[in-house]
Amino acid sequence: MTPLLEVANLNIFFPQASGESTVPVDDVSFTVAAGELVALVGESGCGKTLTGLALPRLLPRGAEMGARTVIRFRGTDLTSLSESELRTYRGRRIAMVFQDPMTSLNPVMRVGAQIAEAIHAHRKVSKRDARERVLALLTEVGIADPTSRIDAYPHQLSGGMRQRILIAMALAAEPDLLVADEPTTALDVTIQAQILELLDHLRATRKLAVLLITHDLGIVAGRADRVLVMYAGRIVESAKTARLFSHPAHPYTRGLFASIPRLDADTTRLTPIGGSVPRPADWPTGCRFHPRCGAAIAHCTTHRPPLEAAGPDQLAACWVTQGMTK
Ligand SMILES: Nc1ncnc2c1ncn2[C@@H]1O[C@H](COP(=O)(O)OP(=O)(O)O)[C@@H](O)[C@H]1O
Ligand SMILES: [Mg+2]
Repeated sequence: MTPLLEVANLNIFFPQASGESTVPVDDVSFTVAAGELVALVGESGCGKTLTGLALPRLLPRGAEMGARTVIRFRGTDLTSLSESELRTYRGRRIAMVFQDPMTSLNPVMRVGAQIAEAIHAHRKVSKRDARERVLALLTEVGIADPTSRIDAYPHQLSGGMRQRILIAMALAAEPDLLVADEPTTALDVTIQAQILELLDHLRATRKLAVLLITHDLGIVAGRADRVLVMYAGRIVESAKTARLFSHPAHPYTRGLFASIPRLDADTTRLTPIGGSVPRPADWPTGCRFHPRCGAAIAHCTTHRPPLEAAGPDQLAACWVTQGMTK
């Protein structure tokens, strides 16, 4: 089966005045199947947001993509499309939801009207049909009492409800893939769980594929099918979620587990990662994690580890995991 989305050798760089470039996303490859929930996890500054933005080619000004980059969506390479051809994909087949619902919503427009606008942007419908559609979407995203909430302004709703409104707007175009970038980071824990449950529900009922971007490995358990762990612009580990949780292979992944507050007996013995993610201009040679890694050997400082099999359906880019001892 061909995957819904196939990303190969994704390179995102910012040319600098000096003539050199920073490369915040470096040779990233992954796939997402229809109806699959894939989590992209890593600390802040690792390149997750840029990766998500690259999919519908919404990169910030000044960013460029490498010539070898392939972003194949339902068999079409989006890197070769013109701006007008891309409109079929942006917000339509690939929809996005971001962290802060307040900045993505228009504060002076009723939420129902904003969802209706999203519907009208993608297809011709009468005003009455659009309203029916809005009510159906509000119900689908779990907004209680949609007939009264449809006329609310964003500030009259809770943070969780505003995030549901954004998800309804994203669904208005009937996308195949939803890129959700830290969709629950601004919300408290109970509401977080409800929004994640909603994404999982949409995946099941709509066969919607979801790329869930998060710095919090703790929220993906039991929800994501697969996890991609990103460090300093590269995928350092990928595995089915259960496997990643039972046998994390990369020292960075193990460090992320140790940083999760809710600990089980096994992970309490791990130490959280010291230091922080360097800026792209200062990325270390070899394995970029080596300065923060307790297991690093001399080889790690000079040679980039390839992603190699570390277990069933599991890849990790670590010389030590791959058996090198000095
Ligand atoms: N417009 C930009 N210009 C220059 N550097 C950028 C720009 N946007 C992001 N970056 C850099 O790229 C790196 C990755 O950013 P981002 O994708 O936002 O990471 P994450 O979402 O994992 O926190 C960061 O170091 C950030 O400073
Ligand atoms: Mg981000």
